[in-house]
Amino acid sequence: MSVLRIAVQKSGRLHDESMELLKDIGISIDNGIDQLKASARNFPVEVFYLRNGDIPQYLKDGVVDAAIIGENVLIEKGEGINVAEKLGFSSCRVCIAVPKTMEYKSIKDLDGKRIATSYPHTVQMYLEEQGIKANLHIINGSVEIAPNIGLADAICDIVSSGSTLFKNNLKEVEMILKSEAVLAVSPILDEEKQAILDKIQFRIKSVLKGRN
Ligand code: PRP
Ligand code: MG
Repeated sequence: MSVLRIAVQKSGRLHDESMELLKDIGISIDNGIDQLKASARNFPVEVFYLRNGDIPQYLKDGVVDAAIIGENVLIEKGEGINVAEKLGFSSCRVCIAVPKTMEYKSIKDLDGKRIATSYPHTVQMYLEEQGIKANLHIINGSVEIAPNIGLADAICDIVSSGSTLFKNNLKEVEMILKSEAVLAVSPILDEEKQAILDKIQFRIKSVLKGRN
């Protein structure tokens, strides 16, 4: 019998609420995240705990069948992956921020500047739309430190409460996109797996309705 493999974030901002959603739809997981894979007791589902940035490729390759992931990560790396459902939690925005002390009038002020980010594709698309050329510096975490250590003139990262920007003396100047957690689906899915996914999606819809 088929088993649907669902990826969730191993640790980070989406993890807890992803696990809570699975619990709320009646999928109980036996093992903790010490193991990278866990089976559901009462449903043909396996949960894989993975790094956020790796999930889009696993979906593309069909290594996992579905994932709970930030929409922003799909926009960055998930071309061809479908969003089955928006999940209504972990909302954030992808923004460009600059030091508070910088006199910023428009995006033109970033022409020729260095921007540190974990989302190079997203930033590049945005800059191209605006006709701006900047030097992107790719960092995988703690991006907001970059201007303070002289690594970049601006950053682009996700903003939720805004407290990380605040603590690092940065101000938000451009919003590129809004994001939230979504249920994403591999383009390679057979009928049996699709049937399991349909059941899960049905349950998710009713849980989300109940939350509103
Ligand atoms: C994320 C993101 C921002 C911050 C935004 O970082 O990269 O830095 O959260 O949230 P806030 O607006 O509520 O402060 P995270 O803490 O996940 O760590 P990382 O950047 O090292 O991955
Ligand atoms: Mg961060």
